[in-house]
Amino acid sequence: MKIRCFIFLCLMVCMASAARGADKLTLKSPNGMLELTFSVEDGRPYYWLSRDGKPVVGKSRMGFTMEWRDDLDHAFVLRDSERTTFDEVWQPVWGEEAHIRNHYNELIVRLEQPVGKVESMDGSTKSRPTLMNIRFRLYDDGLGFRYEFPLATTPKDGSDPISNALVYFWVKEELTEFAMAGDHLAWWIPGDYDTQEFNYTESKLSEIRSLHAGAQVGGGWPWKSFSETGVQTALQMKTDDGLYINIHEAAVLDYPTANLDLDDKTMTFSIWLTPDATGYGARLQTPCITPWRTVQVCEKATDVLRSRLILNLNEPCALKDVSWIHPVKYMGVWWEMISDKNCWSYTNDFSSVRLPGNPSVPPSLQGYATDWTKAKPHGRHAANNANVRRYIDFAAKHGFDALLIEGWNIGWEDWYGKEKDFVFDFVTPYPDFDLPALNRYAHEKGIRLIMHHESSSSVNNYERWMDTAYRLMNQYGYDAVKSGYVGKIVPHGEHHYSQPIINHYHRAVVEAAKRHIMVNAHEAVRPTGLCRTWPNMIGNESAMGTEFRGGIRPGHTTILPFTRLQGGPMDYTPGIFETDMGNIISWGKGNQMKHTICNQLGLYVTFYSPLQMAADFPEHYAPYMDAFQFIKDVAVDWDTSLYLMAEPGAYIVTARHPKVSTLNKAAEAVGTLADGKKDMLSSMARYVYALPEEATAADLKNATARDVWYLGGVTDENAREVTVKLDFLKPSVTYEATIYTDGKDASGLTGEGYNPKSYTITTKKVTAKSKLKIRMAPCGGFAISLRAR
Ligand code: NOJ
Ligand code: CA
Repeated sequence: MKIRCFIFLCLMVCMASAARGADKLTLKSPNGMLELTFSVEDGRPYYWLSRDGKPVVGKSRMGFTMEWRDDLDHAFVLRDSERTTFDEVWQPVWGEEAHIRNHYNELIVRLEQPVGKVESMDGSTKSRPTLMNIRFRLYDDGLGFRYEFPLATTPKDGSDPISNALVYFWVKEELTEFAMAGDHLAWWIPGDYDTQEFNYTESKLSEIRSLHAGAQVGGGWPWKSFSETGVQTALQMKTDDGLYINIHEAAVLDYPTANLDLDDKTMTFSIWLTPDATGYGARLQTPCITPWRTVQVCEKATDVLRSRLILNLNEPCALKDVSWIHPVKYMGVWWEMISDKNCWSYTNDFSSVRLPGNPSVPPSLQGYATDWTKAKPHGRHAANNANVRRYIDFAAKHGFDALLIEGWNIGWEDWYGKEKDFVFDFVTPYPDFDLPALNRYAHEKGIRLIMHHESSSSVNNYERWMDTAYRLMNQYGYDAVKSGYVGKIVPHGEHHYSQPIINHYHRAVVEAAKRHIMVNAHEAVRPTGLCRTWPNMIGNESAMGTEFRGGIRPGHTTILPFTRLQGGPMDYTPGIFETDMGNIISWGKGNQMKHTICNQLGLYVTFYSPLQMAADFPEHYAPYMDAFQFIKDVAVDWDTSLYLMAEPGAYIVTARHPKVSTLNKAAEAVGTLADGKKDMLSSMARYVYALPEEATAADLKNATARDVWYLGGVTDENAREVTVKLDFLKPSVTYEATIYTDGKDASGLTGEGYNPKSYTITTKKVTAKSKLKIRMAPCGGFAISLRAR
């Protein structure tokens, strides 16, 4: 009785304050520049954000529409609030730097829809209040906030907890808004439920509507426009005052991915959730939390690249043992298929294929299973024993860690566009791919094979086979998988970004971790910093990558670090030296990639990933081995990264210093591949330890790591001259710089003057006082390796 009285009193106080009009709370960032305001006005929650007194996000709505009960956007009272400050430094397993600072001020507001103020079909709101908290974290470089739904709340006086009327609940839509303070410039891709494989459009917010239809063309498949002003996150914007604002999300787990829908009269974005097959946004059960909604606010473009807001908002590493996770520099039997020279499939004999052992097929039809051992090969199957050995030899000779092989398993004759459930089994190789022998051969040469699991978006089927497929990988010593989700999702009606499929991607990573497998998923949802928690997620595609060949617009790779890469590394697959597809296959004529060789070299530094590919054919590298040397020398894991110059859609210049400990680890990891073969040495280790090509891991014992830096630059269709100050080098130390620059006549811009293969390589002694003047050609770039003498 006593308790009831107290609750009543407490509610009265809160309700009274709501009735007075507004409850308003403010929070400042650690340096005081950003200020968040939260208010409940006439029962509705709002927030806004300013920087140095100027609005960044205007007054914006919060909440949800619901099924079976009143919406979560009105009748709220502010029950209580709490503030904390947090400051820590954490060490990522791999990344752009060895230490990351996570420093924020936090405000949590506890909201309540009191008993009797709202209605629900199950009657729960008649006896229990509806509880919803909002947690705000304000950093110097931006804001994160999320909704939290507790099971119950404990009153401050320690009396019995009060249960939440929400237990199982279905969200129709999330109402969170981001009211922009002006008609900003934006780099955007169209909103979609299934793909991010689009070129970016640079325009004012007010121009999105008129450019939207054009922006959907040439992207990945399938796509579905839900609004003429729908765009995806991460959305990079720039205000007329030169402020960089980025809207994204962090830690998307057990919840759909959000798009943004723009009201172009008020310049207000609102969250647009990817619906599941039944049309709902999210099905939740308390206690639960939503992903973080984020607004990065940076004065300089280089500060956006430096921001670790998304990673910081994710939970710390969930794995106790991370010793098996390592960065990977790899090649692949891959570009042969993408360039159309060869294919994934084995034969033309079958008009359709049916995999053996499909449990859904009645016994009387099992005899129709396809038998590849009796088929006539069409002669263009790239993943054959001889060709794979050729790639292993080349990758081993040049000190790579791994080789990806696609098209090794049965089913590729019928894999695409059929929306087929039982499409692959992920365990049966084609007759000309000797899995045990090829792994043995690779391991003896210090190369790990990377497994390929194209699910063809049949999530049903991948779930069916995943465990067996991972066990096969363990059996033969594969420690990394590239998975893929091309085409429409099966189960039909689900989307790549709907809640059940988000849960699938996550399960694939968690199960892989149990088996010490690293994951690089293509076409899966764009990352939202989960690699902090699950560092075995070493790559994702989830954007338009090299596979789009001539379809990629100039400047694309100067935008991605501001957008797609904010959530985690991308398997962009750079390193294409033969840019003219017509030189590979007659029907490739007219398909020319818009970059120079030096642009591709620059990407290994400007584009961060612990998983970097040299994607071209060995025979395409052969005439340019002096330029290929940079790909061999460059590191893939860093203790320091400096973003020297940047502007989205225009140029990026970055300098990075490698994490030497990972070089040792990589050398060791390679050395443990096969008994008695403990002398493999990665190419970057050779460079850092100044060891000759024939050096082995054993030679590391007597060698000393030199201080080494790598620089990269890329530009859009405009040629640019940049002056790079080397003042980050150790004082009083002389370094030898190897400088890879576009030739005077180079141009990666197709049309007249197209000359992508022209480059010059110079060496120079430099110190911290030196300045290097470098010209980048149209669609060009540069790379520099610096080693202390
Ligand atoms: C699309 C992926 O992005 C590409 O890398 C892969 O080769 C194909 N799917 C086939 O799985
Ligand atoms: Ca793709």
